Amino acid sequence: MRTVLVTGGAGFIGSNFTIELLKDKNYKVIVLDKLTYAGNLDNFSDEVTRNPRFEFIKGDIADRSVVEKVMKRVDSVINFAAETHIDRSIVNYDPFVQTDFIGTYILLDEFRKKTRDRFIQISTSEVYGSAQTVPMTETHPISPQSPYAATKAGADRMAYSFYKTYHLPIVVVRPFNNYGPNQYPEKLIPFFIANAIEDKPLYVYGSGKNTRDWVYVKDCAQALKRILDISADKIKGEVFNLGSGKEYDVLEIAGIVLDYFNKPRSLIKKIADRPGHVERLISDTKKVKKILGWQVKTEFNKGIVETIKWYEENKWWWEKIRKRKEYQQFYNGWYGSLMKVTQSKK
Ligand SMILES: NC(=O)c1ccc[n+]([C@@H]2O[C@H](COP(=O)([O-])OP(=O)(O)OC[C@H]3O[C@@H](n4cnc5c(N)ncnc54)[C@H](O)[C@@H]3O)[C@@H](O)[C@H]2O)c1
Repeated sequence: MRTVLVTGGAGFIGSNFTIELLKDKNYKVIVLDKLTYAGNLDNFSDEVTRNPRFEFIKGDIADRSVVEKVMKRVDSVINFAAETHIDRSIVNYDPFVQTDFIGTYILLDEFRKKTRDRFIQISTSEVYGSAQTVPMTETHPISPQSPYAATKAGADRMAYSFYKTYHLPIVVVRPFNNYGPNQYPEKLIPFFIANAIEDKPLYVYGSGKNTRDWVYVKDCAQALKRILDISADKIKGEVFNLGSGKEYDVLEIAGIVLDYFNKPRSLIKKIADRPGHVERLISDTKKVKKILGWQVKTEFNKGIVETIKWYEENKWWWEKIRKRKEYQQFYNGWYGSLMKVTQSKK
């Protein structure tokens, strides 16, 4: 049985991945998660927590003593742990530098101490910045536009350097925008769904014409499982984009959500653009298809409806998050300041 360290496993993609991995009896999962505002043990059902192949450790990837201890018990690492909200990185980038960059470096440094199976670094399509050529291949220039993306790009290249310099079995994965169950309700799709349900504004930055390539999180979890299953020799040193090859803009998504609930378009409120906002991301899908035989299975039109239904049926999950002082302080502060910029431009 292989023991996999899943850092950040209590977050959105990490929890969906943990659920997927536990389906396979050949794997034991140790989740290491700091439980920041975005980490959530509600993401694990009783079935998961009672599974003898599941273990949870509360801890920080940037804390060497914690990492040193847990690393001794695992053969593979998949690093999801990160501060992930771009908007927050604009207000305060300290925790991004600390976790996304320093935390990754500490994991890599401890990983290096013994021969192990593989280290999968979860990077992001945001490292590319806005598309210079489309669709975007793995060789597209790295040109991050936000502090979040910059710290992720640093970690992405740091991981790669450990392959080049020390010949470690490192794989870098750059998912495009994920959506689906368990996503913290400050992120675009759950934010729109929850606000539509509560008749609150769907804030849209700038023109609303910025596009993203959307990947249903359960499809992403399956791709990552393949990256763990395949012989490390076949993929070490590789970078993989995980995208669908299709793009949807923010206004289209707002429209789909409002139509589902029969709510008026007047709930859409255009506000000032986010500084450094990436205009367009769309993935090339050839490499991952060729090497891993993976492609997005869930068409966006189907996945978005599944996602809306999940948030509709699991209000308990997001309502308690949105009632927290932490959520409200960020929401009011961030959108309040953008509203002021919007009004001063009128
Ligand atoms: N969500 C997306 O669309 C998307 C797209 C591309 C890449 N990614 C990347 O995927 C990964 C997971 O993203 P997500 O959307 O699930 O994020 P998330 O914010 O939902 O979860 C992040 C998790 O990391 C944990 N964490 C934060 N700091 C930590 C630390 N110092 N030590 C240990 N745990 C810590 C949090 O408690 C949380 O459980 C991130 O690396 C992110 O950059 C996300």
